[in-house]
Amino acid sequence: MRDFEDRKAIVLGGTSGIGAATAEALAAAGVEVIVASRREPAPSHDTGTTVEQVDVRDRDGLERLFARHAPFDILVNAATGGERATGPFAQMDLDGFRGSFDKLWGYVNSVRLALSHMSEDGNIVLVSGFPARKCPPGMSAIASVGGAVEAFVRAIAPEIAPRRINAVSPGIIDTPMFTQSGSERDALLEKLTDNFVLKRAGTAEEVAEGVMFLTGNEFVTGTVVDVDGGALLP
Ligand SMILES: NC(=O)c1ccc[n+]([C@@H]2O[C@H](COP(=O)([O-])OP(=O)(O)OC[C@H]3O[C@@H](n4cnc5c(N)ncnc54)[C@H](OP(=O)(O)O)[C@@H]3O)[C@@H](O)[C@H]2O)c1
Repeated sequence: MRDFEDRKAIVLGGTSGIGAATAEALAAAGVEVIVASRREPAPSHDTGTTVEQVDVRDRDGLERLFARHAPFDILVNAATGGERATGPFAQMDLDGFRGSFDKLWGYVNSVRLALSHMSEDGNIVLVSGFPARKCPPGMSAIASVGGAVEAFVRAIAPEIAPRRINAVSPGIIDTPMFTQSGSERDALLEKLTDNFVLKRAGTAEEVAEGVMFLTGNEFVTGTVVDVDGGALLP
């Protein structure tokens, strides 16, 4: 496992959920961490990480962010990107379906632009999701985006070697992506994970452990690690 002490990481979507847990895990391992998302950095933010503002759909903004922090060694993109269209495909608004692909474009933008600013032994981790390979009803857009992220990782890995690129594929994870609260939230997470082997939502920290494995193990590239409570099993 790579020593993290002398490394610098940029975590896009690092202000919430899986990205924030990953930023925390990287910082705890001794990595210098820059997190970025669309929100204004809170003035009182005092976690030891640098907080920046960027929209992953804005290529100029990403280029400026990467240039400011070059050279860096680790890129994690955990941004949701934009819209997440759900519901029966036959009734789905096609602009919503298309908008769900903002996540993919954000990933493509960040990988392409990061390459000129990363160290030669740098690595990248993206986030797909279990619907890519076992889609529940109403998640066709999310499944399509996840499938594209996984294909992208496999396609790019040989081209960018010796740099590495991988993805983590979460199950249902209890993060602010779910906006419901209280009993409504509990019921939703229970329903969504009812047919998972472990019958519960995961935590952002559990997914961050998968990211830490992928970023730290120098013999892993072009692959997807499932951290999903057995979501894919029958
Ligand atoms: N939670 C789950 O059950 C689950 C399951 C499978 C896959 N995933 C995937 O895991 C990743 C992380 O999700 P999460 O659950 O951690 O969600 P989250 O808690 O809502 O965090 C999303 C992060 O992305 C940032 N973001 C969203 N759009 C952005 C944009 N256009 N540019 C820059 N930053 C942007 C958000 O910050 P701002 O709002 O400030 O921009 C936030 O920091 C996503 O790709 C999601 O699709 C999640």
